[in-house]
Amino acid sequence: MLPALTEDVLTPTAAPAVPLWPVPPKPSQGLRSDAQERADMQAQYRAVRAESLRRSQHLSAEDQCIQSMPDASPCKWHLAHSTWFFETVVLKALQPGYAVFNPRFHYLFNSYYEALGPRHARPQRGLLSRPSLAEVQAYRAHVDAAMQGFIAHSDAPTWQQAQGLLRLGFAHEQQHQELLLTDMLHALWSNPLLPAFWPPAPVQAPLQVQGPSDLPAPGSAAQASQLPAPAAALLWLEHPGGIVQVGWRNSAAQFVFDNEGPRHAALLRPFAMASRLVNCGEFAAFVADGGYRRPELWLSDGWALVQTQHWQAPAYWLAPGDARAPADHWQVFGLQGVQALVPEAPVSQLSFYEAAAYAAWAGARLPTEFEWEAASSLSGMDELYASAWQWTRSSYDPYPGFAPMAGDVAEYNGKFMVGQMVLRGGSVATPAGHTRPSYRNFFAPAARWQFSGLRLAKDIHL
Ligand SMILES: [Fe+2]
Repeated sequence: MLPALTEDVLTPTAAPAVPLWPVPPKPSQGLRSDAQERADMQAQYRAVRAESLRRSQHLSAEDQCIQSMPDASPCKWHLAHSTWFFETVVLKALQPGYAVFNPRFHYLFNSYYEALGPRHARPQRGLLSRPSLAEVQAYRAHVDAAMQGFIAHSDAPTWQQAQGLLRLGFAHEQQHQELLLTDMLHALWSNPLLPAFWPPAPVQAPLQVQGPSDLPAPGSAAQASQLPAPAAALLWLEHPGGIVQVGWRNSAAQFVFDNEGPRHAALLRPFAMASRLVNCGEFAAFVADGGYRRPELWLSDGWALVQTQHWQAPAYWLAPGDARAPADHWQVFGLQGVQALVPEAPVSQLSFYEAAAYAAWAGARLPTEFEWEAASSLSGMDELYASAWQWTRSSYDPYPGFAPMAGDVAEYNGKFMVGQMVLRGGSVATPAGHTRPSYRNFFAPAARWQFSGLRLAKDIHL
């Protein structure tokens, strides 16, 4: 797994002067043998690849073929595409004599790389009943064997060139591991049987509330009797603002994406950040207060979606009496199937618009991505990386001096820097060790099938 970055992002440092990758040799590398480095990389490769299969182990072959919407991809496609990535950017590029598993897979499993040629249309990935799941698994095994041999035996100059690509391949597959979960969760949500992704967890105590219009008013005695106190009190953690350094820190041991740099200065006004995420109980109060019926709380584009898409609650909430899973209380569909709404659990599956509307209702706002990064190291900050991604008020733009990675992977991030919003942190679906304070996730503001929630911020006057 990739190491977590725990450095203090507020500590100014000189601007990094080395390219993101290929990773330059480190002075400390002289202490480790070439054989040990390669063995470590082989172990990392096996661990990352195994995690993809672990995440798909409870899904049937039928599950793994379906695509529930154009933005989502089938599990089988994720397994094949992440394999295609290693095959294309490492083996075909750097391994003389590599025998391609099936040359027609290049068309099927190229995602969006224009420089690498035409590809199968994304909205039609669910039509790929062939190759079968067994063939995709054989494809993975073929590439895995070749990669293990490449890591063990490539010559020194090639090995030096390949290490950054390998780390990119690990991070890339981890991104698809999260998408595998969220895309399949949407597919299972689209099945009226509402099957669980993972085996079900122990039953939670139900929250005895009715439909959105019947939810008790916030602060009322009725609500107090129905919504247990939050597990952790929400604290406002103050930051003095000023000039802070944001972005990736120059460290040869730490992989970062090109969109995290260059590190640069940002000017912040004094602000306060919530110590934890908004939870389901708090969001239920927003629903009960007519949050989805009050246009004054919404950005215009968001309000249009509320009306045309008939949004009344977060994407996977089930109102009492829902015919798919009858109950007299609110429920939430998640990786373990339908569960009673847990008030203390961070709210998730929110679009940016819903997050912004809640913040307006709560008398607060969403943080900018730089406020989030600066506050992430404050003492008392909780639920940063393992609960839900946190929408920010920052559009996904290049940092000053941004330069995309070189070569075939130049299209990895830069060409998506328009029309999307940045999310910070990480989620329950994020592989361990994948994220860090400078990590920038991004989605269109209407996206609500990710584990995406919010953390409140507000201005303060010191
Ligand atoms: Fe990809």
